[in-house]
Amino acid sequence: MPTERPAHPVRSLLKQSSLYPSFKQLGHYPDYWYWKLRGEPRRIPHIIKQRAVLEYEQAFGLATLIETGTYYGEMIAAVVDRFRKIYSIELDPDLAKRAQQRFRKYSHVEIIEGDSQMVVPQLLQRLNERCLFWLDAGYCGWIGELGDQDRLGSEFKAILNDRIPDHIILMDDADGIRDEHGSPILSKVIASIKSDYPSRRVEVVHNIIRITPR
Ligand SMILES: C[S@@+](CC[C@H](N)C(=O)[O-])C[C@H]1O[C@@H](n2cnc3c(N)ncnc32)[C@H](O)[C@@H]1O
Repeated sequence: MPTERPAHPVRSLLKQSSLYPSFKQLGHYPDYWYWKLRGEPRRIPHIIKQRAVLEYEQAFGLATLIETGTYYGEMIAAVVDRFRKIYSIELDPDLAKRAQQRFRKYSHVEIIEGDSQMVVPQLLQRLNERCLFWLDAGYCGWIGELGDQDRLGSEFKAILNDRIPDHIILMDDADGIRDEHGSPILSKVIASIKSDYPSRRVEVVHNIIRITPR
């Protein structure tokens, strides 16, 4: 997902409403069909991201999902019944509180307010099984984002060097990976993961980087 643009005043008002997440959710199928009609351009609809998460959950028999970047909780809502435990990390205190409120009746959903660069390594220490990571915390530019230039690189490293050797990583917005001058460096990032972690397969489908055990 690209950098969030300043919202239209009506949309800003709507965003304050507790109904906004449901309103957003209503748009998922129209968005999907519109994408299909336009010949599947690079900006993919949320439904394709939900399907990717569910595909890997099923293929690898994963019970725990860690999401970076909760936003309005659309991914959590789409997959909430498919995982035994879901952690989602959100930097923005208001969004984090809204998601905590929204998912309060789901005891297996934990929304953590904080910077993913700090929280991911802490969370890894608490985990004792192979997990699915959905990395979607505005790495390619987001209002209010924190962390150093290599926030994504440091999270990749923390997960790939973890004592549990075979976590699965999905990272959204692959084409947004650029150097400080704005030049794309996706191929370099993929090459360095492949050479540093030869036991991993790395591929990009639908603009999502997918890192799995070979
Ligand atoms: C693209 S949205 C997430 C969408 C959500 N994952 C989904 O699929 O429904 C990006 C979110 O990342 C959050 N974010 C930005 N920087 C962050 C950071 N350093 N740590 C945690 N969350 C961050 C933003 O506040 C925003 O809510």
